[in-house]
Amino acid sequence: MTETERTFVMVKPDGVQRGLISDILDRFEGRGLKVVGAKLMQMDRELAEQHYGEHEDKPFFEGLVDFITSGPVFAMVLEGQDATRQVRRMMGATDPKEAEPGTIRGDYGMDLGRNVIHGSDHEDEGANEREIDLFFDEDELVEWDKIDGSWLYE
Ligand code: RTP
Ligand code: MG
Repeated sequence: MTETERTFVMVKPDGVQRGLISDILDRFEGRGLKVVGAKLMQMDRELAEQHYGEHEDKPFFEGLVDFITSGPVFAMVLEGQDATRQVRRMMGATDPKEAEPGTIRGDYGMDLGRNVIHGSDHEDEGANEREIDLFFDEDELVEWDKIDGSWLYE
């Protein structure tokens, strides 16, 4: 059976500035993902450098940290079967120019450095749990039963 899991998702500063929080949340809720945590927050450089630590040697690292700390982000924890991979599929390719129409980046983005949304990497084992721990305290996450459970999953 497919595992129920939690994943970390974040509307980046460009998405927040462009008023896309509600559209993006709507897609995830409509799909059936359960929101178990959400907050608007301002990332500081220390958090950004930790979050994007895997890219610290890349030429785009400084610009990426500048961008992600340039304004508020909307951080979420979503729960569902195969949630991490399904969220990445809904986000589309990293470069919005290559992302399929119908995906979030393919519908809302134009440029690699302004790609609207972050989601934990499903190919990086444990990235979802690491990122949830980095952004959320335990008491900010809510465990709850959603009424559509048996209508969403067989
Ligand atoms: P993210 O972590 O932000 O969700 O994006 P991703 O997994 O799809 O892509 P990743 O490889 O982790 O890259 C992180 C962010 O760095 C920027 N980037 N710039 N100039 C470049 O070559 C380059 N490559 C990546 C992108 O904004 C990407 O979201
Ligand atoms: Mg990534």
